[in-house]
Amino acid sequence: MNNKKIIVIVGSANTDMVISTDHFPLPGETLMGKNFMINYGGKGANQAVAAARMGGQTVFIGKVGDDNFGNSIITNLISEGININHLHRTQESPTGVALITTVPSGENSIIVNAGANGQLKAEDIQSSEDVIAQAGIVLMQLETPVATLIEAARLGKKHRAFTILNPAPAPATPLPQELLENIDLLIPNETEACSISGVEIKDEDTAMQAINTIQKMGVKNIIITVGSKGAIAKMDNKLITVPAFKVKAIDTTAAGDTFCGALSVALSEGKDIEAAIRFGNKASSISVTRKGAQLSIPHRDELEM
Ligand code: RIB
Repeated sequence: MNNKKIIVIVGSANTDMVISTDHFPLPGETLMGKNFMINYGGKGANQAVAAARMGGQTVFIGKVGDDNFGNSIITNLISEGININHLHRTQESPTGVALITTVPSGENSIIVNAGANGQLKAEDIQSSEDVIAQAGIVLMQLETPVATLIEAARLGKKHRAFTILNPAPAPATPLPQELLENIDLLIPNETEACSISGVEIKDEDTAMQAINTIQKMGVKNIIITVGSKGAIAKMDNKLITVPAFKVKAIDTTAAGDTFCGALSVALSEGKDIEAAIRFGNKASSISVTRKGAQLSIPHRDELEM
């Protein structure tokens, strides 16, 4: 790591439309749901909010549409204390939207219409090189175009930032070498790790197989988050297993985002990786006890650690 404190997050911002149901709808089924909510979401914006609520100096690079959803997202990010000087607007697409179904087990299913997030271009990243040059960490996900992320990771490495990719949602095609070669730390969940490595994760052994396969693709450091079981990591060839905090989950939306944002803040403060994973686990364990994406993300004083 370096001693620069700014965390730059390159990613998506969505308006989440959430309905709770008793079970996920089957093909052709019309289900009666309840508790409709419109919330702030998007993996990038969620991670930015998590970082800001943990006390990180957070800059968000993204794109929203020239519409009311975009206006609200901007107002919200400002209210969270996030630097939005590098947030772009487009008239070509509407602001990103996610349709989310949650069920009593706490699981969800999400359909995202990327909209303006899909218009975030490599040029938009190049125009933010000045702020990337000041960043200690550049944190990315996969809800914006891969070409854009390749540029963000390249500029991050050029300026000696620690680059983190949370490969969510799970990539449908192999991640390009130009991206992986500039990533210092990959944080997939079990599904994402399986899509990338081809190894189905059932236990610690298979998680290690997935980690070893991904390392051969050129990423040195990997943390696989395994939901209620915690995280398994290989950092600088050291194996680390960190159990999760035991809680009753009611909605896991944005749990991974909360983990990534909180872990980034802990690393930017110089915590070692094990302590940073524990910090991320604690933050996400609180988020799953609440409904919604950004609504569920805790503030630092709630972590008591
Ligand atoms: O990770 C949760 C997020 O995924 C939601 O907020 C939704 O917008 C989708 O991006």
